[in-house]
Amino acid sequence: MVLLEEKLERVKDSEEKKEIKIGIVGAGYVGLVTSIGLAYKGFKVLVFEKNKEKLNLLKKGIAPFYEPDLQKFLLNSLNSGNLEFVDEISQLVKSCKHIYICVGTPIKEDQTYDMSFLDAAAKEIANHLPSNEQKIIIIKSTVPPGTAKWFKKIIYRYRRGKKTNIEIASIPEFLREGNAIYDFFNPNRIIIGVDNKSIIDDLTQIYHDFPAPILIVSTTEAELIKLASNCFLSTKISFINSISDICEKLGCDIENVRTGIGLDNRIGLDFLKPGIGFGGSCLPKDLEAIISLFKEKQVDPILFEAVKKINNDRITLLMNKIKKALWNIKGKIITIWGISFKAGTDDIRESPTLKLIPHLLNEGAYLVLYDPKATHNFKNQFPQYSINPNIKITEDIYESTVNSNLIVITNDWEEYKKADFFKIYELMETPIIIDGRNIINYPEILEYGFEYYRIGVIYEST
Ligand code: UGA
Repeated sequence: MVLLEEKLERVKDSEEKKEIKIGIVGAGYVGLVTSIGLAYKGFKVLVFEKNKEKLNLLKKGIAPFYEPDLQKFLLNSLNSGNLEFVDEISQLVKSCKHIYICVGTPIKEDQTYDMSFLDAAAKEIANHLPSNEQKIIIIKSTVPPGTAKWFKKIIYRYRRGKKTNIEIASIPEFLREGNAIYDFFNPNRIIIGVDNKSIIDDLTQIYHDFPAPILIVSTTEAELIKLASNCFLSTKISFINSISDICEKLGCDIENVRTGIGLDNRIGLDFLKPGIGFGGSCLPKDLEAIISLFKEKQVDPILFEAVKKINNDRITLLMNKIKKALWNIKGKIITIWGISFKAGTDDIRESPTLKLIPHLLNEGAYLVLYDPKATHNFKNQFPQYSINPNIKITEDIYESTVNSNLIVITNDWEEYKKADFFKIYELMETPIIIDGRNIINYPEILEYGFEYYRIGVIYEST
């Protein structure tokens, strides 16, 4: 293990940087943010995205998903001439020495990663590799440990004995949706996984001026660091959710308890917010993946199975709170604030709201959904809900509360805190709020007359 504390003083000015051409395969969250970020830093970046609709939007300078500042940075990088979206993977394979693989690795029904996009990328790259130049392929997709080594093998396999000069690295990405641009420029650490030390200089040329320590490890270690980091975050969330459950039984307030725990520097307050469980395209997927990996290698996955169970049980717990608050759900109008899996994004993958909806419909509720950014994705991805007479999707927070019997808050947009609760109190039939993210100021909300329940504290509000 090498910690490059004093980063190499290379590539001092942007003129030299522009000589480095970087190819990126896949323009999802990681690929697009990496492309825009590296172009902004002065590198010449060529991006290939196989989804033609997305590619055309990107060529026109339109961000295909919501992410704070993404649109602005996309236009800036395109206008600088450093960023180009290309139609064929061959264009970037031929002209770039560094090729980042940022394709999706969704989880399959058997709870293992779907590697088909990586396989397809390996084949395409192999078909276009020049035999006389060295290429460095950098895996940035989240993958099972061992993938980088495999990727190299697969490329040689597709080369069918032709002269090949490639090296593989694994540089995992740690950015969060909703903070992706900020996180790209301000990472906590840069993990560079290599199995051949001769390419370290080539890679630090790209990363030397990021404000973060660089840790050099093997490719498999880098892959495990990524997986384990996400699973640690999941564990922290399930831990605090468990503590919040006991708080409710003991008459304690989780906010006081978590502050007391988190003020220990060794623990910290980050990722110690209780709620209705973690969602998104990463934490649940990586938890499944680590459980599968442990089972495959015959290591007991008990810790991660418990983390998963605690997370899955959050929706049952929320349903119990809803039943208790409403006494009878059938025929009631329930407003849900929150469709995306968290604030700052329109991404609805593995959002807790998606798990909650079928339970409430089964109980005979009428649902009114509101989210500042995610209604469009919800309508597109769940057309059956758009035509369900028991579901209304609205673009206006106040309209969502008209005649409502209960507001359930499932994600943590700032907008909810700033709502006019005096007005909402008047609009609702029975002014009750269940705050699944503990974001509303609760001594204050009681002054409006609401019945208000949150996670990890039980108190009499009426
Ligand atoms: C996560 C990691 O935080 C990133 O470092 C990583 O790069 C990314 O996955 C990835 O693998 O690509 P992300 O999925 O964007 O990022 O979202 P998080 O901010 O981690 O939140 C995940 C879920 O946990 C959300 O549903 C959020 O509401 C929930 N959460 C988060 C809590 O319930 N409590 C907390 O204290 C923090």
